[in-house]
Amino acid sequence: MAKIHIGDQAYVMPMATTILGCRLNDRPNFMALGWLTRVNFKPPMLGVAVNQGHASHGAIVDTGEFSVNFPTIEMVEITDYVGLVSGKRVDKSDLFNLFYGELKNAPMISECPLTVECKLVKTVELPTNSFFIGEIVAAYSEERFLTDGVPDIKKIKPFLLTMPDNGYWSVGELIGRAWSAGKSMRKQLT
Ligand SMILES: Cc1cc2nc3c(=O)[nH]c(=O)nc-3n(C[C@H](O)[C@H](O)[C@H](O)COP(=O)(O)O)c2cc1C
Repeated sequence: MAKIHIGDQAYVMPMATTILGCRLNDRPNFMALGWLTRVNFKPPMLGVAVNQGHASHGAIVDTGEFSVNFPTIEMVEITDYVGLVSGKRVDKSDLFNLFYGELKNAPMISECPLTVECKLVKTVELPTNSFFIGEIVAAYSEERFLTDGVPDIKKIKPFLLTMPDNGYWSVGELIGRAWSAGKSMRKQLT
């Protein structure tokens, strides 16, 4: 099949849909966040790309702390809402029940089955966004979302994001095991 040139968008397909939490002046603030990735194994670190125009951007620069919260599929509407309005104009502090771990500027969302608090360790300035790298101070969940002590995607029910079609998607079926599915091929070929 002939490949066709489809432009220059950053097609990362899919992305996890998350909510970034921070302290904006004296109140908690939240924004939808799709541009998130793991960036270091030990110590564990996350990278988040935040547009320089967002209220959350200034808040992370000011406090050096933030949280990443994984909403469930039941939270699509409120997740989208915090991605539509800015803390510069709208107070988003009372939308969720909150809890705190070790950091006082990284509010976490009780309704989210999986949350992580991060301390900023490095910032990469890019033309429109800053790539904030945060060291994970601690991650939180509840017994009901775990299997054998680790987060279980079937219990957490996170949702995915695709751009530029702007779709939210639920997660499909387990189709294999990582670091395992290729083992017989490795045996044959190496
Ligand atoms: C699903 C979704 C994902 C988003 N992902 C990001 C992102 O990764 N980085 C970013 O800078 N903005 C992202 N946005 C836009 C911000 O969430 C949005 O501009 C928000 O209103 C900023 O809030 P603030 O000004 O209170 O920080 C996303 C929006 C939506 C709806």
